[in-house]
Amino acid sequence: MARMRVVDRDGKEHEIEAKPGLKVMEILRELDYGVSAICGGLCSCATCHIYIDEAWIDRLPKKQSDEQELLNELTDYREKTSRLSCQVEFTAELDNLKVTIAPDG
Ligand code: FES
Repeated sequence: MARMRVVDRDGKEHEIEAKPGLKVMEILRELDYGVSAICGGLCSCATCHIYIDEAWIDRLPKKQSDEQELLNELTDYREKTSRLSCQVEFTAELDNLKVTIAPDG
């Protein structure tokens, strides 16, 4: 089992087990402090918004246009490191990936 480091909305870092092959969203929505992911991964709600730690951003697959379009609508909280966690597959190569849960809204 690989691991992920997750910073919650209070700034507290948690180290969790993460199963390769799942979307990062599927891992995060199981946590009390995780994402709500209300569209279930259809890239239409943006409630799975996270920030990828700078050190990891270039190691992830590039965004597709539908993810970028939805991120473009998040004018208040969008950062260079923003991703929709339902569009990012967690792989064994991402062991120890660090992400931060974005603010609601
Ligand atoms: S879960 Fe809705 S956009 Fe990711």
